[in-house]
Amino acid sequence: MKKIIILASGNGSNFESICKKIDKNVKIECLITNNPMAQVIKKAKKYQIKTHIIDSKSINKNEYKELLIKTLEKYSSIDLIVLAGYMKIIEKEIIEKYKNKIINIHPSLLPAFKGMNAIQKAYTYGVKYTGITIHYIDENIDEGTIIEQKVIKINYKENLEYLENKIHEIEHETYTKVIEKILKTM
Ligand code: GRF
Repeated sequence: MKKIIILASGNGSNFESICKKIDKNVKIECLITNNPMAQVIKKAKKYQIKTHIIDSKSINKNEYKELLIKTLEKYSSIDLIVLAGYMKIIEKEIIEKYKNKIINIHPSLLPAFKGMNAIQKAYTYGVKYTGITIHYIDENIDEGTIIEQKVIKINYKENLEYLENKIHEIEHETYTKVIEKILKTM
């Protein structure tokens, strides 16, 4: 049985998709979120996934880091830490401790359009193609070795919302498959 932990801060559509699709031999040990108001918490309840809430707004950066480390340490032999719309920077200490075990999904073809609102940035820029990237994380935001990318041709007759939906659909199609593939190589 492989074990993963998911970190998320928002809506949790990727989280839900992983819960629905992941192989029965993979256990989602828990969800960790920094946002007590996140919709993802309700989704974890629906799938009976244990949730740890570490409210990042009520403590300082260092306290948050220490609590995150302690929470991760509750789980032994974790194979993969999956970021799914997690809006906090992962500190160097954690990256080093879980080397090559933390992956992220980003809604653009990295290294283009890093950071927030990537779909909107790509659309407004007028690029012909955008997509999604799944990558290992490093100390810099939205950097690290790329594992998988999917390309989408933008049709400017469609609005931004259409593109956003399409990107999320492709994220949901791809993320679980990539997680399973990585776990199989372990
Ligand atoms: C996704 O677009 C993901 O690529 C980005 O944050 C978004 C999270 O969406 N990192 P959701 O919370 O999974 O619905």
